[in-house]
Amino acid sequence: LFSGPIDFLKSAPQLQHLPDPTVPEIAFAGRSNVGKSSLINAVTNRNKLARASNTPGRTQELNYFDVGRDPLVFRLVDMPGYGFAEAPKDMVKRWRFLINDYLRGRQVLKRALVLIDARHGLKDVDRDVMKMLDDAAVSYHLVLTKADKVKPTELDKTLEIIRAEAAKHPAAHPLILPTSSETGAGLPELRTAILEAVLQ
Ligand code: GTP
Ligand code: MG
Repeated sequence: LFSGPIDFLKSAPQLQHLPDPTVPEIAFAGRSNVGKSSLINAVTNRNKLARASNTPGRTQELNYFDVGRDPLVFRLVDMPGYGFAEAPKDMVKRWRFLINDYLRGRQVLKRALVLIDARHGLKDVDRDVMKMLDDAAVSYHLVLTKADKVKPTELDKTLEIIRAEAAKHPAAHPLILPTSSETGAGLPELRTAILEAVLQ
């Protein structure tokens, strides 16, 4: 599926612009600049499907990508980042509502991927999102990004800490996935996890 057709569908600035909920959706969530858009490109093997940038706050709407064409099989959703303190307040508020409402209320959302920068580990905003997903009973994977930026021993330590914390969250999947969009590390495992979530 990842080597077949994948098409940009639309950008949804508000919930009323979401496509009809006809196929499973997998959402990429996480703090600003954590690497959501880059990981969508890496996992789909496309360079410029999603717009990535060094400037936090690049993705401002829910961007939808169709995986499979006749038949359409599932959709990937690139989300705006949360926890971006420097953005204008009304923008931060708008994004928070969009992110929360989408994650809490989307029937076809099969799994959320909560991306965590391997250098920084879990932050309080991540814990807030995890708690919200627990409460809404939306199952999610914690995915470490930018694994190429840390030493293997440091990565192991971070994984250990996050595993212990995830164990306390009812909707968190026990498998934590370290990835790198730069080196391609962890991408096969991530593709498998996505397909499992879609087909389950
Ligand atoms: P927003 O849309 O602003 O919330 O950001 P985002 O989470 O979509 O991040 P994006 O994919 O735009 O990447 C942010 C920056 O991190 C870019 O400069 C990327 O090149 C860089 N980056 C993303 N993934 C990796 C990675 O695995 N390794 C390294 N070294 N850099 C990465
Ligand atoms: Mg982005």
